[in-house]
Amino acid sequence: MTTVAIVPAAGSGSRLGRRRPKQFLSVGRAPLVVRTLRVLAGVREVGGIVVAAPPEAVGATRRLLERFRVPRIVAVVPGGRERQESVWLALQVVPASTSLVVVHDAVRPFITGSLVRRVIGAARRHGAASCGVPVVETVKQVHDGKVEATVEREGLWLVQTPQAFHRSLLWEAHEKARSGGFVGTDDAVLVERLGIPVRMVPGLPENFKITTPADLARARTFAARGRR
Ligand code: C5P
Repeated sequence: MTTVAIVPAAGSGSRLGRRRPKQFLSVGRAPLVVRTLRVLAGVREVGGIVVAAPPEAVGATRRLLERFRVPRIVAVVPGGRERQESVWLALQVVPASTSLVVVHDAVRPFITGSLVRRVIGAARRHGAASCGVPVVETVKQVHDGKVEATVEREGLWLVQTPQAFHRSLLWEAHEKARSGGFVGTDDAVLVERLGIPVRMVPGLPENFKITTPADLARARTFAARGRR
């Protein structure tokens, strides 16, 4: 097994205002996390998947994945307080023989196998890769409802997952971040801090992160239209 996927799914989903974390809400006939995992499990290069679940829901997550017969699950581990901590905890059980780790948010169910493969391919060649989409709207810095600055959008990208890294590089990046007390919102930034370039691959507009009730409604519309 040379490529393993880590799926951080340990968020509380508080921004969605539901009691159940968003990754366990249903979109169509399957919970969000199941949809996401099925895509990853369908990628030939992905030999196994480690899921980080909310600590109190590890058993329930294992049972859920069994009930929906999600293949290639290597382990379900308790996640941490931050996404970064959840990825780090999942990384602990990734076999040392793994050469590449691909990290993908549970709450982005509309990835495609070909996007995962493109990111994996770029990471194999360059060590670290992310996907994202260029910013097309005007960007302003706003404070207390007032515009403070207009940011030059040239060269700005909105970052998505999957991101992929040589396992040893991701390990080192997390270790350095931890020892420096740095907490980032993705894994690529931890590698960037080492001074190592991260390759950017074009992502997909439908690979949005389900964060708000409006996102959930959009996801359900997508799913109902047969996007999966
Ligand atoms: O919070 P955010 O929307 O950035 O979460 C992105 C992904 O990270 C989600 O799939 C969420 O479940 C996961 N996460 C996690 N552990 C946390 C916080 C978020 O695994 N403590």
